[in-house]
Amino acid sequence: MQSLDNLMTNFTVTKTSDSKEKRKYICEGCGYEVKVYDFTHLFGPNKGQSFEGHNGCKCEDIRLANETLKLHEERKRLVMFNQNSLINPDLQKASFDNYLPTNESTDKALITAKQYASNFEKDKPRNMVFVGPYGLGKSHLAASISKQTISNGYTSIFISVPKLLSKIRSTYNKKSEHTEDELMSALELVDCLILDDIGAEQSKKQDDGESWAVSKLFEIIDGRVGKHTVFTTNLTSKELQDRIGPRSYSRMMQNTEVVKMSGEDYRLKDF
Ligand SMILES: Nc1ncnc2c1ncn2[C@@H]1O[C@H](COP(=O)(O)OP(=O)(O)OP(=O)(O)O)[C@@H](O)[C@H]1O
Ligand SMILES: [Mg+2]
Ligand SMILES: [Zn+2]
Repeated sequence: MQSLDNLMTNFTVTKTSDSKEKRKYICEGCGYEVKVYDFTHLFGPNKGQSFEGHNGCKCEDIRLANETLKLHEERKRLVMFNQNSLINPDLQKASFDNYLPTNESTDKALITAKQYASNFEKDKPRNMVFVGPYGLGKSHLAASISKQTISNGYTSIFISVPKLLSKIRSTYNKKSEHTEDELMSALELVDCLILDDIGAEQSKKQDDGESWAVSKLFEIIDGRVGKHTVFTTNLTSKELQDRIGPRSYSRMMQNTEVVKMSGEDYRLKDF
């Protein structure tokens, strides 16, 4: 908090009675003409003292306008991936707090996921892959990472790969609200992308080489180099390589921490 005196010193000023324009120049930042006047402090400890004031520079206005525009564009991109519609109902409430580890491997997974989210920094990109059989909370922890990074002020998209690929396919429909380019650039620009259930997509090889899914996935993963991406899968590394192809697999594993989980399916715990 600034003291009242400080505020007075800074803001309660007037031009001197004979305040003439001393000189003018063109601001290099904004290109506007800036006029230089003598101002005098009316109140505060510096009362009576004069100083030089520069009027007409629009650099700050331009900076604010650009910032607003950027936020607007970012929001527009994220709306395409409306998290309420993409996260399964059973994961809507998932958080680190309601994840109850059932053994050593899930305990370690929770700690690693929490650390990943709390150490998240844009310019220190790290990837993580949660690996293990059904119902161990891989998606639960990945969704929690997404929520935590968002509440720390970053952008994040959580989406299952099969859903993502059908979303991209749907843009080929002429009536589609978004274009493929819009979706792809959102996936590339988001701070933290969660690709849930990678390898679960239909990606049968075609006679003419790579399937559409395999090459689309490569495009996405390749666009994430140097950014944060979190994956979940219940495939083994061999199965995953076969499914997504060696090029995607190699990039996916670059700078990537593998979190292996084992245990009982939490979904069946009441039986
Ligand atoms: N340790 C846990 N504590 C609390 N809830 C859990 C735990 N493990 C799983 N769950 C809950 O069980 C359900 C299944 O978990 P989740 O979808 O995360 O499993 P998964 O490992 O991703 O399984 P799959 O391989 O089938 O995708 C979710 O509703 C999740 O919130
Ligand atoms: Mg899952
Ligand atoms: Zn300027």
